[in-house]
Amino acid sequence: MTQISQVAFFSSKNYDQQVFSKFTSQSSINVTYIEAKLDELTVTLATGFDTVCVFVNDELNSQVVTQLAELGVKHIALRCAGYNNVDIPTCHQLGITVSHVPVYSPHAIAEHAMALILTLNRRTHKAYNRVKEGNFDLQGLLGFTIHNKTIGVIGTGHIGSAFVNIVKGFGCRVLAYDPYPNSELESVVEYTSLQQLFIDSDIISLHCPLTEDNRHIINQQNIEKMKKGVMLINTSRGGLIETSALIQGLKSQKIAYVGLDVYEMESELFFRDRSCEMIQDDLFQRLTTFHNVLITGHQGFFTQEALNEIAQTTIKNINGFANNDNEHTCFL
Ligand code: NAI
Repeated sequence: MTQISQVAFFSSKNYDQQVFSKFTSQSSINVTYIEAKLDELTVTLATGFDTVCVFVNDELNSQVVTQLAELGVKHIALRCAGYNNVDIPTCHQLGITVSHVPVYSPHAIAEHAMALILTLNRRTHKAYNRVKEGNFDLQGLLGFTIHNKTIGVIGTGHIGSAFVNIVKGFGCRVLAYDPYPNSELESVVEYTSLQQLFIDSDIISLHCPLTEDNRHIINQQNIEKMKKGVMLINTSRGGLIETSALIQGLKSQKIAYVGLDVYEMESELFFRDRSCEMIQDDLFQRLTTFHNVLITGHQGFFTQEALNEIAQTTIKNINGFANNDNEHTCFL
């Protein structure tokens, strides 16, 4: 007999409901959509559910995970690739299964990284506003030709490789650092040390997961090694960059452009309209004052194709767990 999974879907948005309901209406999954993010304050909302479905900024530390186990939750289904927000060892100790969506549309995130580069370089966001106001002055819009520039790619997994292919199309030289080099890329990129990548790159783009070992990999010491005028792009996880060091790098003009889709303390800010609130995060507010910083609110994944893929894989994971089908389930 097919098991009916009772799923508490945290941090839910309208677009999640629209996409997931397309695939759950015919399935053995009963989803309750909850707008709140899962953390220590909201964990009791998981009462009566066997599965919680969570996203990038839900906070599943050891306390939350322990409470989930006490409430009878057996499965945490992440509807994203990264899992730095979940205490996986504690889940395993408590017998909670964790699944994720390892690959959905790596091209979506790689394309967003390229969008940040092009916008920062040619300042199309400023040009758009100027032309709308009848201002056709080019002063301040001077860019550089990307062809022949050296791009440093940190992390050459699914997203990093898609990004490499994009920048190769622009005629760039690509340096890469990854503790596990991708053999398929060895003929198109030059794998090098992290130090050398920092020294030689005109543009550096982060595509590695956040771990305890690489937290603040972009810090004052490493910024000092970079070329003056470097462009830094982060579409991976905010914790890879030490924000105070980034601000110093911008103030000293060592860093000439910054494109961020993620931010260290984004869980307090992103995915909500806060335009009528007093934002309390002074570091974030300082970042927004630089004319050469472009921040988007973690939207790299946000394409129709990626959302469909996320929903389908998450549902497959939930059904797979309920029916002991390990072969078709992405467990961590
Ligand atoms: P992946 O697992 O396919 O590739 C990650 C690569 O990073 C691997 O080759 C791994 O060996 C390498 N790596 C691990 N530690 C490293 C380190 N210290 N230095 C350099 N390389 C290292 O992951 P994928 O799918 O390419 O995703 C990468 C990251 O992108 C995710 O972990 C997630 O944080 C982020 N992401 C962001 C999204 C967004 O909407 N902005 C959406 C999806 C993922």
